[in-house]
Amino acid sequence: MNINLVTSNLGKVEELTHILEPFGHKASQLQVECPEIQAPTLEEVVDFGLDWLSAQKIQTPFIIDDAGIFIESLQNFPGVYSRYVYDTIGLQGVLKQMEGLEDKSTKFKCVIGLMLEDGSKHKFVGECKGNLIQEMRGTGGFGYDPIFIPDGYKKTFSELSPEEKNGISHRGRAMEKLIKFLSNTVI
Ligand code: IMP
Repeated sequence: MNINLVTSNLGKVEELTHILEPFGHKASQLQVECPEIQAPTLEEVVDFGLDWLSAQKIQTPFIIDDAGIFIESLQNFPGVYSRYVYDTIGLQGVLKQMEGLEDKSTKFKCVIGLMLEDGSKHKFVGECKGNLIQEMRGTGGFGYDPIFIPDGYKKTFSELSPEEKNGISHRGRAMEKLIKFLSNTVI
């Protein structure tokens, strides 16, 4: 299937493409300025995005991806505000907020929205638990990857290969569900 990836984030395009291609799906990036809404959950942001893009008659099938990092000691902040926090105080600012906090448990969550040709909307959720560290390590990935170590690993997401990250990441897990869904759906 040819699937449009509606995102301006090249890191996401790379990861989504690598995940989709082995299953015979061809992915193409579509850059569309979608209005940002403030909503309490990633699911609501994705619902809004799917409806808005559908109203703009964006070529289906298409995928959108909303993700965030949820830090337990900060009452799950920044969560849906992850992009704003990253773009304003950056990783250094986040590390500063974490100084002195013993519990650095954190999870990444990703919600993938899929709009099919028949107008049906589908959402797939993936999570990856781990811990933040007090420094940046590695050069791969994007966003918060240099400060996040997934459970069971000693390396940050940035230090893992793309295949390793996709194999355990919030996005990889959400996409696994999407691919299973597509393989069971006759379109
Ligand atoms: P959004 O989904 O593009 O709104 O992303 C929210 C914020 O989380 C941005 O700052 C992204 O860079 C960051 N982000 C999203 N996915 C990942 C990921 O897989 N690793 C690290 N940071 C991510």
